Order: sequence, then structure tokens, then C-alpha cells
Amino acid sequence: MDKFLIRGPCKIKGEVFISGSKNAALPILASTLLFDKPVTINNLPRVRDIDTMLKLLKSLGSKIQLSKNKKSVKITKSKNQKVFASYSLVKTMRAGILVLGPLIAKHHMSITSLPGGCLIGARPVNYHLNALKKLGMEYKIKKGYIHANSKGKLKGTKIKFSNVSVGATENSIIASCLAKGTTILKNCAVEPEIKDLTNFLISAGAKIKWIGKRTVQIEGVKSLNSVNYSVMSDRIETGTFCVAACLTRGNIIIKNFDPKIIQTELNLLRKIGAKIKTYDNKIYINGPNKIKSLNNIVTKEYPNFPTDLQAQFMVLLCKAKGRSIITESIFENRFMHVAELRRLGAKITVKENKAIIEGDTNFQGAELMSSDLRASAALVLAAIVANGKSIINRIYHLDRGYEKIEKKLRKIGVNIKRIS
Ligand code: EPZ
Repeated sequence: MDKFLIRGPCKIKGEVFISGSKNAALPILASTLLFDKPVTINNLPRVRDIDTMLKLLKSLGSKIQLSKNKKSVKITKSKNQKVFASYSLVKTMRAGILVLGPLIAKHHMSITSLPGGCLIGARPVNYHLNALKKLGMEYKIKKGYIHANSKGKLKGTKIKFSNVSVGATENSIIASCLAKGTTILKNCAVEPEIKDLTNFLISAGAKIKWIGKRTVQIEGVKSLNSVNYSVMSDRIETGTFCVAACLTRGNIIIKNFDPKIIQTELNLLRKIGAKIKTYDNKIYINGPNKIKSLNNIVTKEYPNFPTDLQAQFMVLLCKAKGRSIITESIFENRFMHVAELRRLGAKITVKENKAIIEGDTNFQGAELMSSDLRASAALVLAAIVANGKSIINRIYHLDRGYEKIEKKLRKIGVNIKRIS
């Protein structure tokens, strides 16, 4: 298994080009199962989860033609579409559950593996199943698979999500596109990646309209048209590099990203002392000489502070002057990185879903173990500012969601090497 060797502390300076968003591309790719005609998706990030989703679509009968640089894909439905989404693919990438909605909408049947949990939590899919059931899907769970079918087309209806869920919102929007009649979804997640999904579907002729802050209306159509669409840039990759600049008193220009959609994060970084200038598709960020502590950051649904940047901000607050608190309110077990940060010298106490971080940490390089995608990014950030050599094991977690991260980091001055 690959590992990273990082020698810190590093000074960060230069330009970073942001890749396409994994969490926008995954639902968009899953929704291609609705189409009869070919669809081309561009600006895909070269990350493992995208490869897994393409493998899953291929196993369901879609013809996959990747461009040379593998950032564009043309997807054509074959005559013999299948409806079996295997555990072997879904277990490594939980977003595999997103094929359930389109398969039921299009083929009125599906055998999709339950995704199972992961290290950050149990990750149930009850909100997905409840919503699809209201649209007319019937299902039984047998041996870890969801055996689902519908009597003919799904039927449009009114659904109010009991809790905000990114995946359940995506599955329901996708399934409603081909339903008979109109669907109104209330209490939806409104992450930018979901807006990218609805922009994609609308461009293919779906009749989708956001009619309230968290309310979307979908009028079912007979079929969708061929479309050529570019996925948005990755806001979590952007946030991760902004934290890197603040950690190292660095100064970087982040290109190919619309800063309007991460105002919450940028304002927090200004509060810790960063100097930030934003333009249409660019962010100039200068890290502060002294990092100010933050009383209590709470992770919440968009447009609030994202859980996917919680681990990265924790590293930043370890270097702040004074004590900070982070509250994780989305996942029940998303502090795996704390034990690893302690190995670098961090002083963090965890009480239920709160982490109390003593600042002024002088990270000393050490050998570390990645646990989940974003926790691994936090370990890389800590190693960048630590004194001496750090080894980060199991970086396949990172490869799931960050494209060429060591190349991008080396380019801005980080002493990092991948050891296979
Ligand atoms: C998406 O996961 C993202 N993944 C996650 O990013 C992100 O952390 C999460 O949204 C929250 O923003 C993708 O987009 C592929 P949820 P998702 O449904 O859809 C519980 C990354 O690092 N829940 O909004 O699974 C759930 O357990 C990943 O890129 C149920 O209980 O998130 C969690 O506690 C990690 N039942 C909370 O709701 C359900 O049916 C929010 O989950 C669904 C979710």
C-alpha cells in the first residue's frame, strides 16, 4: 500500500489549480442511467471513487468511453441494461447507493447492495428508501441487498425529508425526473453539488425548479436528451488548500474555483487572521503570522460550515493561539484523526461530539495512519507544518477524493514523496 513521506516544516507559495468535484460528479454519473441517448461528462477528477462509479455503471450495462486524459467520459446505454449493483463495488464507495433511484425510475426494478457503514459512522440509507417508497418503489432487504421494484412508472408526490440528507435528496431528485406527474421535495440538502446535479439534469430537459430555500419541484418527463456537461470544481479540495496556506503563513493563488460558494469557510479563515481576496474564479490567500483561536465551529448542512472540512480546520486550530472548540453535528464518529494528531503532539480532548483543542502545538513528525478521506487530508496538513519527517500510511483513502495531491503540493513547495 502506498504511503507519503513528508519533511516539514514547509513554506507554501504558488498557484493551485482545483480539479472537478468528486461529490458533484458521482450523482451526475449515477443519473446517466436515466438516459437512452449518449451523455458526455467533462472535468471529472481523476480519483478512485470516479473509477469505481464508472465500473459500477459498466456492470449495469452502460458503455463507457473515457478521453485520453480520463477527464471526459461518453456514456451510452447498451441494449442489455442490468439492474444488479454489486456489494463488491458499492462497499468501497457508498455513493453507489445513488444508482438505486435511476434504476427504479428507468427499469422499475433493481437489486442494489446496501452500502454498509464506514469509519465515520453507520451511514444508514433509510431516508433514501423512505422517499423512494413514497414515489412508488416497493422493496425487501435480503442478504444485504435491496430488492426493489415498482409497478410501472414511479408516481410524483409530495415528500418532506425528516432530516437533511445530501444522498437522499440526490436519489429522490434523480428518480422523480421520469416519474408520472409532479414531485415536491421539502427539507432538501442544498449543497452546491446538488445544484450542479439539477443544472445537469435541466440541461438534458428535466423539468426541475427550486421553488423554496430547501424545496424543489420536479415534473416528470418521458425521456432526457443527449447532453455535454462539465462538472463544477471541488470546494473541499479548495478549502483544504486554503487551510494549508493559513497553516504555513503561505501565500497561494487558487484557480478554477468560484469563491462565492465557500463564503462561510473564507469568513472563518479571515477570523483566524488570513488575508483573502476573491475574484470570479480565483482566490488569493495569505496565511496570518499568528493564527487566532475560534470559540466554537459547528459542522452543519450547507450553507453552514461543512463536516468535510472539520478535520482540516482542527489541524489549523492546533496551531492557533489559545483554546478552540469544534462540534461535529453531522456524523457520529468523525474524530478519527484526533488520535493520529495526538501522535504529532496535539493536545485535544474529545467529549461526545465536541473536540477541545489547546493551541500553540509544536507538531513533531511521526508515522501516521489514514482512516477516512478527509482525516487523511488533515494528517498531510499536519505533516506539512510538523518539524521533521512524517510517514502517512494507507493513502488510498486520499486517492479516493484528491486528484494528484502530491503533485499539487510539491508544486507549491511541500517536500512530499509517494512511496509505493
Ligand atoms: C455526502 O454523504 C457526501 N458524500 C459526504 O462526503 C459528506 O460528508 C456528507 O454528504 C455530508 O455533507 C458524497 O456526496 C458522495 P448525508 P451522504 O446523507 O450523502 C445520516 C466525502 O468526504 N443519514 O447528508 O452520505 C448520515 O449517517 C464524503 O467526500 C441517515 O441517517 O451524507 C449522516 O449522519 C464523506 N440516513 C447524516 O445523515 C440516511 O438515509 C448526513 O448524511 C442518510 C443519511
